[in-house]
Amino acid sequence: MERTFLMIKPDGVQRGLIGEIMSRFERKGLQLVAAKFMTVSTELAQKHYEEHEGKPFYEPLLAFITSGPVFAMVWQGDNVIALTRALIGKTNAVDALPGTIRSDFAVHTNYNLIHGSDSPENAIREISIFFTPEQLVEYEQTM
Ligand code: CMP
Repeated sequence: MERTFLMIKPDGVQRGLIGEIMSRFERKGLQLVAAKFMTVSTELAQKHYEEHEGKPFYEPLLAFITSGPVFAMVWQGDNVIALTRALIGKTNAVDALPGTIRSDFAVHTNYNLIHGSDSPENAIREISIFFTPEQLVEYEQTM
């Protein structure tokens, strides 16, 4: 059973897309393990996006992700990382396949609605940045 970290970004929250996005993961059959509606501090944003430090989009990314509330989540399921990335679509909405979240609702790479972990290592790291172990629920029955 794999876990991943997903975060609906300030644009997704402001556009009222939390329910729409979450329902896609629920309908897929994935399980919600934790969720937190919160504002990301600059320090937290720097930790989360440390691999992008120095890239041209890094500073605008920090400014954007701290600009308003986000909806941070942990989901689980078999192959949840690959499955959620497939449902989310490519980083640039222009390249996202029709039917994906970014194709259906996003236009710009900087405002692409949702972040999803891209590897098991990053999932573990990102979950531990945003949640304590006690905040992750255990299901008796997994699907
Ligand atoms: P995210 O999955 O949150 O990871 C890093 C974010 O940086 C990415 O989504 C985009 O919102 C943003 N970004 C902006 N420009 C680029 C780029 N050229 N390559 C990757 N990510 C970018």
